[in-house]
Amino acid sequence: MCRKTLRLSPDPKGISRAADILRSGGLVAFPTETVYGLGGDARNAAAVARIYEAKRRPPHNPLIAHVAGINAARRLAQFDPRAEALATAFWPGALTLVLPVRADSRLTPAMTPEGAGTVALRVPKHPVAQALLTAFGGPIAAPSANPSGRVSPTSADHVLEGLSGRIDAVLDGGDCPVGLESTILSLVTPQARLLRPGGIATEAIAEVLGGPVASGKDTGVLTAPGQLASHYAPHAPMRLNAEFPLDGEIWLGFGPDCTAAEVTLSATGDLDEAAANLFAALRLLDARAKGRRIAVAPIPDYGIGEAINDRLCRAAAPRDST
Ligand code: TXA
Ligand code: MG
Repeated sequence: MCRKTLRLSPDPKGISRAADILRSGGLVAFPTETVYGLGGDARNAAAVARIYEAKRRPPHNPLIAHVAGINAARRLAQFDPRAEALATAFWPGALTLVLPVRADSRLTPAMTPEGAGTVALRVPKHPVAQALLTAFGGPIAAPSANPSGRVSPTSADHVLEGLSGRIDAVLDGGDCPVGLESTILSLVTPQARLLRPGGIATEAIAEVLGGPVASGKDTGVLTAPGQLASHYAPHAPMRLNAEFPLDGEIWLGFGPDCTAAEVTLSATGDLDEAAANLFAALRLLDARAKGRRIAVAPIPDYGIGEAINDRLCRAAAPRDST
């Protein structure tokens, strides 16, 4: 697949064109409140195969099905009272639920991990994503719109940097407000399990569930390939929890004390602002590093800070495991 990638405006004409491309089995990247997704028809095996090809994504890594609302989600998976409570609290929004897939979902088999009988579902909040889902009228498979293993895109330009010529179009809806991916929670076991920290804080989920959330990392089993050590990686090497930069380093700051930083995630120490800036900052520093290492200031590990630290740890992990 090699063709010109269209940049579509997120107006009714652009949305309608994007929905037509999806209906014909093509690929359209679109903004969500977390990151840009690379969309294809989740009921079309050829379209889903094209997503894997465009991203060079390993075949064992399943995709999230995006739907417009809870009624559409209930047609794809079985909802228990926990799922109902979490969907009511956080949808539309940055929470993905892994649930038992329904036999009559009509999702293409690649959407569900072999043998597991589960599907990951998300209802995005972004108005452009909502408009596209409504115009298309079915579930949209959408991983983050980046080449596999690289930093996720938070703007249409980022999408084109990685996937231009490999996808049909990108709906340009500007910068993504949350800036890192959704929280993934598995509800297929009696205790809810966090597979990936993300845009909805684990503490907020525990509050709705009325009890602690187990860590997916405890099992020793790879249940979400977002758990692979090296992921979301810039090209430059990285050093975390850096109180100050060493010789040969370029510093990514956080908070008011990092005046010597090349780029600061949030000068006031605001974690939401830091999350929104994270991926663009990693791209910028990567471009400026020129052989230097990226040193990152310490980030508090609560709220969305847990997800920021998760992405930074993966970005800093040895690169031979992707
Ligand atoms: O914010 C997001 O979640 C973005 C936007 C576009 O919605 N999407 C996203 O997708 O981050 P992706 O494919 O980059 O990450 C989805 C993760 C993968 O690590 C995948 O392994 C996991 O979800 N996943 C998908 N289906 C699963 C399932 N049935 N069971 C366990 N993990 C699953
Ligand atoms: Mg991804």
